[in-house]
Amino acid sequence: MPYSRIGAVAHYVPNQVVTNHDLAKIMDTTDDWIRSRTGIEERRITQTENTSDLAIAVAEKLLQQAQLAPEAIDFIIIATMSPDASMPSTAAKVQAGIGASKAFAFDMTAACSGFVFALATADKLIRSGAYQKGLVIGAEVTSKMLDWTDRSTAVLFGDGAGGVLIEQTMRPHFLAESLHTDGSRGHTLTSGASPLASPYSQGQAKKTAIQMEGRAIFDFAVRDVATSIVQLIEQSGLDKHQLDYLLLHQANQRILDKMARKMDLPRAKFLENMMHYGNTSAASIPILMSEAFEQGCLTLDGSKLVLLSGFGGGLTWGTLIVKI
Ligand code: ACO
Repeated sequence: MPYSRIGAVAHYVPNQVVTNHDLAKIMDTTDDWIRSRTGIEERRITQTENTSDLAIAVAEKLLQQAQLAPEAIDFIIIATMSPDASMPSTAAKVQAGIGASKAFAFDMTAACSGFVFALATADKLIRSGAYQKGLVIGAEVTSKMLDWTDRSTAVLFGDGAGGVLIEQTMRPHFLAESLHTDGSRGHTLTSGASPLASPYSQGQAKKTAIQMEGRAIFDFAVRDVATSIVQLIEQSGLDKHQLDYLLLHQANQRILDKMARKMDLPRAKFLENMMHYGNTSAASIPILMSEAFEQGCLTLDGSKLVLLSGFGGGLTWGTLIVKI
């Protein structure tokens, strides 16, 4: 029976760095407020690139790292809540952009859980035996989704992309998984509503920017998400101390502090880079993974046991325990 493994990891972020001090010049906020509430110091914002451009840059890096021709790729999944358009999908643009002529491609939307949901899906595609190699990329241009007059959300997010090559292997690397959705709490984190607009409908509302009940999402993360992570570790039969690193969605440093306490694990095992990129939604976990790879914490030889967990709009949350 085939299994899947992560064979390459890469990220790409736009050049323009926007610091908290820069934001304080255009809205009523301070570096101190943003830093003390979230840990974020700066983020990247693109002026010229759309989501597919960021994802194509990642896909090209993945092919180069794995020394693969684009024709070797069987499928491409782009996790994004900020696609270039509803149609064609961002994944279709990436497929054309890198010349992966044999790949089928589609987008997945699960907000900040998108990368974990997409990776879990890709694992099943590979394990079906029908496909050998796929690209799974989280890519977001959240800056086009924001209301830049709303300081309660505009300071939190950033643009970026990261992803992995997933490929067939004969030993298990994906050891445990739990995926969840609670649509009844969806109203606490919303964006991009497409109101009815036919000549027969009453709808007149405009597309909406990101809106968030910050406290409710914070509590959801430190209660529901933390509980589900603890349960998954227990169900997996693994000892939590076997985990080398926890790569959680990069929304807020205080969420990671509370998670570490709740799980009774060393805070140093919770990798973080939200100070440099803010919340990049579906891109946050693969960017973090790629930087860990560049810094030598991860070597992609299956020697490290890593927990990945995303949480956000939907509400959605999902966790994978993977040998990387
Ligand atoms: N600068 C200065 N003051 C601000 C700012 C700002 N940028 N934003 C809000 N404030 C003010 C508010 O107006 C409020 O003022 P008031 O007390 O006079 O009314 C005060 O700061 C406190 O606001 P809160 O929203 O209560 O602040 P809180 O401590 O809850 O922090 C935050 C807000 C950072 C958003 C936090 O709730 C959080 O991190 N939530 C979770 C976010 C998250 O995890 N998202 C993940 C999913 S994202 C996705 O899926 C796309």
